[in-house]
Amino acid sequence: MAEEKMSRRDFLLYAMGGWAAVGAGAVLYAMYKTWEPLPEVKAQATVKFDLSTVQPGEIKVVSWRGKPVFILRRTSDMGGCDKRTVAGEYTVVLGICTHLGCIPNWIPEEKVWHCPCHGGRYDACGKNIFGPPPRPLDIPPFKLEGTTIVLGEEGPEYKKLIQG
Ligand code: FES
Repeated sequence: MAEEKMSRRDFLLYAMGGWAAVGAGAVLYAMYKTWEPLPEVKAQATVKFDLSTVQPGEIKVVSWRGKPVFILRRTSDMGGCDKRTVAGEYTVVLGICTHLGCIPNWIPEEKVWHCPCHGGRYDACGKNIFGPPPRPLDIPPFKLEGTTIVLGEEGPEYKKLIQG
């Protein structure tokens, strides 16, 4: 008889332990789902863009993580950019002035970016050539997949560029 009472007690303890484990698992899963980035956020982390859709001399603006990225397909009269060239003929830079963060405008006649805030200028490579900007326009992390650029991932081409 005493053995039977112990068995019931054990059963109840095991049952309660089991329910507690299920509850703890549910709480941990809920916490994991809360911490996991939303699908929209994950999708914005990287942006793909086909470079071959840009005509020579044309500039496209791609939005990446809420920031403009300028993609310029350079022409021979824009000069070489040495270590700031992506896929042989493109300039890919964040469209945010390195002085105080304004968005520079492309002036096609002069082939420069002009910052409307304090008159800073950048050449077609994104190098600062006039005014207060302290450094060239930043190059966003990227990797290449054929003619497609994936913004937001650090590929070997990007690492080579930033090592200068
Ligand atoms: S913010 Fe561009 S020159 Fe000052």
